[in-house]
Amino acid sequence: MKLFKYFLIILVLLGLPACAGVLEQSIPEPGSPEAGVYRQKCSSCHGLPDPGRHNVEEWIHFIGLMEGFMKERNFPFPPEEKEAIQSYLFRNARK
Ligand code: HEC
Repeated sequence: MKLFKYFLIILVLLGLPACAGVLEQSIPEPGSPEAGVYRQKCSSCHGLPDPGRHNVEEWIHFIGLMEGFMKERNFPFPPEEKEAIQSYLFRNARK
């Protein structure tokens, strides 16, 4: 019975880091609806970029660029989603 207990503990120890890797990387305001739109839209073609990686001007540039990529690939990007992602990125951008 004791062995079984150790076995469980080892399973948990091995399992935790594996789960952490599968879980989404941490982004600001993880529970907000805008973060949800961002996560869903912006991780479809590549990994989710960290909002703090770019400043507002760079984000304007990238969002424009991404809009082009999405159009090319017939990837829907309605204006309300663009606005949500924009305001999310702008308020979490690098200062
Ligand atoms: C239709 C596919 C597609 C979608 C959806 C998309 N991207 Fe991209 N993105 C690309 C491509 C293609 C590149 C070019 C470089 C590459 O392959 O990583 C790129 C590159 C980038 C880069 C620059 C490269 C880097 O590593 O810094 C950023 C920043 C970026 N995307 C942000 C976004 C954001 C923000 C969104 C959501 C609005 C988004 N992307 C959604 C296709 C996409």
